[in-house]
Order: sequence, then C-alpha cells, then structure tokens
Amino acid sequence: MSLDVNKIRKDFPILQRETRDGVRVVYLDSTATSQKPSQVIDAMNDYYQQSNANIHRGVHTLAEEATSLYEGAREKIAKFINANSSREIIYTRNTTEAINLVAYSWARANLKAGDLVILTEMEHHSNLVPWHMLQAEKNIELDFITVTENGLLDLDVYKSLLDRSPKLVSFTHMSNVLGTINPVQEMIQMAHQIGAIVLVDGAQSVPHLQVDVQKLDADFYAFSAHKMCGPTGIGILYGKSALLESMPPFLGGGDMIKEVKLKSFRANTLPHKFEAGTPAIAEAIGLGAAVDYLSNIGMENIAAHEHQITEYALERLEEIPGLKLFGPSADKKGGVAAFTLDGIHPHDVAQILDKDGIAVRAGHHCAQPLHEKFGIPATSRASFYLYSTKDEVDLLVNGIYKVKEMFK
Ligand SMILES: Cc1ncc(COP(=O)(O)O)c(C=O)c1O
Repeated sequence: MSLDVNKIRKDFPILQRETRDGVRVVYLDSTATSQKPSQVIDAMNDYYQQSNANIHRGVHTLAEEATSLYEGAREKIAKFINANSSREIIYTRNTTEAINLVAYSWARANLKAGDLVILTEMEHHSNLVPWHMLQAEKNIELDFITVTENGLLDLDVYKSLLDRSPKLVSFTHMSNVLGTINPVQEMIQMAHQIGAIVLVDGAQSVPHLQVDVQKLDADFYAFSAHKMCGPTGIGILYGKSALLESMPPFLGGGDMIKEVKLKSFRANTLPHKFEAGTPAIAEAIGLGAAVDYLSNIGMENIAAHEHQITEYALERLEEIPGLKLFGPSADKKGGVAAFTLDGIHPHDVAQILDKDGIAVRAGHHCAQPLHEKFGIPATSRASFYLYSTKDEVDLLVNGIYKVKEMFK
C-alpha cells in the first residue's frame, strides 16, 4: 500500500507554514528531529488541560488518570517494538541518556580494566563519549569496526574483533550520516556466540523501520521520541528483564525506591527502579500518541515510502556535477542523503538553500570520527520521512543548482 502523503501532510501543522521570506517550508531535516502531527500535540494538550497531576503516588481522580495515561503509553511502546513486557521499557530523556544509563549502571558493574568494548566508526557521539568516559574511569579498552569506502561495516573486521572476546558490543542500527542499515540481527547473533552483551542505538531505526527487539535478540535497545513524531525530552531504553533486574539503579531519588531509611534504601521493581523523580509525563503520553500514529499508518508502509523517496533523491542528486554522495546505495540505506559539493562549504549550501525554505543540516552531524575517516570536516545532509515528497526532492535539486550558479 502506498501512503497518502497529501493526507499525512495535513496532520502536520508546521508543514503548512511559510518561512520569513514567504516561501513554503521544505523540511528535509527529520534525521535531526521529526515534525509532530496534531494527534501528538493534541494528546499532550489534552493531558495538561484535563488530567494534569503527578503520577503513581496519588489516589485522586486526576492522579489516577495521569498514571493510567503514562503507564498506558509504556504498554503501547512495548507492543510497538515487541518487547516481552512493559517492565522492559525504561523512560529516559533520549537515546543519549539511555546509552549513558547502560554505561553507568550495567557497564560500571560488569566491566573492569582491560575489558574490551567494540563500537563502530559510524557511531553518533552519544555512542562514543559515554564509553570514552568509562575508559578514562575504568581503563577499559575500546576498538572499532571499520567502515568501508561505500559506507558499510566491515564484517571481517568485526569477526576478528570478536576473537578478542569483548564484553560488550554497541553499534547503531542505522547511521545518521550514511543512512546505512546495519545487519543487526546477524551482528547480534555473532556477538552472542562469544557471550558478549549487545546494545543497539536505534535512534534512526525505530522511527523508520519495523523493529522487533525479540526477533533481533538485542540485550539493550535505545531510541528517542522526538525523531519518531513524538516530543523532545523523552526516550526509551529497552532491556531484557533479567539484565535490568541484575543492574544497580542509575539515578537515585523519589519513585525509584521501595523503601528508604536514613542510612539505606531498597530499590523499586522494574521499570521504576530506573526512573528517579517526577518524569516527563506529558512527553510520555505524547510518545504513546506518536506510536499510535505511526502504527495506524504502518511501519512497513512508511519504510516503503521512504525507500521510494530515497531512491529518487539519490538518482537525482547523482546527476549533479561536482556532488559527492556518502553512504551505500538506496537498497542498503534509509532516508538520508549526505553530500559535499566541490569547492563549496556545506554550511554555505545549507544557508543558501534556506533562502528558498529548504531545511537541510550542515556539519559533522555528531559523527566527527566518521567525517574524519572520509577526510572531510562536514557534509550537507538532506533526510526524509513519511511526509516527504518527490516534489520536495526536486526543489532540493533545483536549489543545489542555484547554489552552484552562485559560486561559479
Ligand atoms: C544514530 C543516532 N544516535 C543517537 C542520537 C542521539 O539522539 P538524542 O540526541 O535524541 O539523544 C542521534 C541523534 O541524532 C542519532 O542519529
């Protein structure tokens, strides 16, 4: 089934607006954050207007309603990624905090000096820096699966790294620069064969692909609401319950405890053990609404639509003289097109495109080592989502020709 994109676009109020130059917004920056449909905005407004109260501790009507909406969202999220139970769904602020939770709790308890953690050269800083920090503290060792010239992970290198018995392997499901969709299921299986734990950064995959954490057999899986039509300020750490049970708490305070004495505490059960303090209640409810929204459209339909747009975009971009695309062909990647233009700085490209209302991102996209690997400081990046159209790709391509003309 193909998507009715015109109908979908009507759900997103921001896509109806114009820029200050009076031109229509062409939003090609969904990899950074997605736009939000009215269904999500309304769910959050309704909560504030009808049910606002703190959760869990209250017995009054509003507190019960708020708790039920907040926990109801957790159930929806569990179902969306096919977790075995909603106890395995931990609310965090974002992907970054979810990865840090694993680094602070699981890794601090389970890794010692000399233990090896495997990452990849295509990681976002949020799956690098927590491990750098742990390396400085515990003297663990880090090594990296290399990225090939065409933007794929080198699985032969991975195999040889696994021979060194790493304790943890942590990698992105989909690259936010190259768009590469990594063979996650196979990579997890390989890691499990040698007894390593696997953390997957799903920031770019959960919004765009059907993800089944049980089928993948991921031990931990992290993602952010704001990239999947949900609000900022909320993300998810999925973890297998046996692992989460065995881990010490992350942050201490209210809600994460069963009992507190002056000199001690007993931690709460899952998932509350990892959720200290008043959480982002409206945001959790917004994420629940985003999950409903995406599920109603169907993740397979969304992925198929994005594939069509990406194929078209790559084809059109490749025609432009002096434009170099990064990453694999459309069959191996999601809706991301990072590129450089001969002799023109990526920031200039983005700024000039903005004059025509075209929003692309320029920079290292929080993946500095990957850009270094390709010998460039920055790229311009256009990215697509369920509301993107071929017409927008055409506007991008025309815009790039205009940029080239200006720099001639
Ligand atoms: C692959 C990947 N990992 C992690 C992150 C971090 O997400 P957040 O900033 O929501 O924590 C991003 C954000 O761009 C990403 O693309």
